Amino acid sequence: MERIIVIGGKGGVGKSSISAATALKLSELLPDKKVLIISFDMAHNISDLFLKEIGNKITRINNNLWGIEPDPNIYAEEYTRNLLRKMKDLMKQMPFVGFIPQIENFIDTTFTTDSIPLALKNAMFFQKILDAEDLTKDIQFDIVVADFPPTANMITLFEIPEDQVKIVLKYSLNFFNSVKKAIRRISKVFSNIINPPSDSKKRRELGEDVLKMIQELEKRGEKITQLIHDIGSLRLVSIAEKPSFEEIKRARKLTNKYIDLEGIHINMLTPENYAENCEFCENLRSIQLNYSKEIKEEFKNFKIWSSEKLSKEPIGYDGLAKLANEIYGNKIKAEEILYPKV
Ligand SMILES: Nc1ncnc2c1ncn2[C@@H]1O[C@H](COP(=O)(O)OP(=O)(O)OP(=O)(O)O)[C@@H](O)[C@H]1O
Ligand SMILES: [Mg+2]
Repeated sequence: MERIIVIGGKGGVGKSSISAATALKLSELLPDKKVLIISFDMAHNISDLFLKEIGNKITRINNNLWGIEPDPNIYAEEYTRNLLRKMKDLMKQMPFVGFIPQIENFIDTTFTTDSIPLALKNAMFFQKILDAEDLTKDIQFDIVVADFPPTANMITLFEIPEDQVKIVLKYSLNFFNSVKKAIRRISKVFSNIINPPSDSKKRRELGEDVLKMIQELEKRGEKITQLIHDIGSLRLVSIAEKPSFEEIKRARKLTNKYIDLEGIHINMLTPENYAENCEFCENLRSIQLNYSKEIKEEFKNFKIWSSEKLSKEPIGYDGLAKLANEIYGNKIKAEEILYPKV
């Protein structure tokens, strides 16, 4: 993998459209490279943009462009299955559990991936896709374009690779404690009747296994964080209005420690020719031009791409190609998109 382009910003400003247009443009400019577009929005719409059913599996869109709209549940399930199983085994080794089917049942039905927070699941998927040995082992992608959710959820995707071990651990320990409490309560009642054997050696071995798995998870998290640091490039999208401008200022601060911000898209500017014949449009355009100036000033050390509002929704290959030309122009080189210079 050479480059991970992350597109973020407020809701509805054009993140998905710009992600799709960028991925398509790069795939056309670089026919020898493999490009993957990933949607991290729960309300996936990459399929709608390419007019092609994509879904939960890596799906070919054209010659050298693939897409995926992951269901994070499925990947979290895979990712944690082993760990959860070992944790469950460990709990079942506790005295009394084997004697009380309700507790065993409680462990099986409660300690599942359903109870893992969605943000963590998404982050697990993000890790999985970036971990080249894993999901993408059949196809080695050179360039990944990630359509991120609005800012708050975007941060958790970056944060969690660092903190996910702590989260999984905390989640497991909380559960472990509730099992212990249940056992203590029940064991008071039964301790005179049954005297369970305590296989402490087996418990110790299982405990060591779990610890090893957690350490591996931690290493993996560190590796991914480093990868995002090294080859990640964040681009924030804003329209020329106050709320989305404020949002990208916040997003810059919040993402600073995880990924380099390299570009700003100012999207959906009112075209000049509309403004000529319509007073409302003229007003709107002059307000937008003011905000646009402010955005350029605020982000003067970053690449700025401006794009006008197209008269037709940018959908399908032609629509997306049009949007890409609107953003990047038709003479752009792939390098300038991949490694923008101010
Ligand atoms: N430059 C443009 N010209 C015309 N229409 C555009 C442009 N950019 C985006 N759109 C349209 O604006 C709408 C919102 O765009 P999009 O879905 O890409 O935004 P988003 O930021 O991904 O939204 P969400 O936060 O809901 O995921 C869509 O209908 C899209 O087709
Ligand atoms: Mg979107």
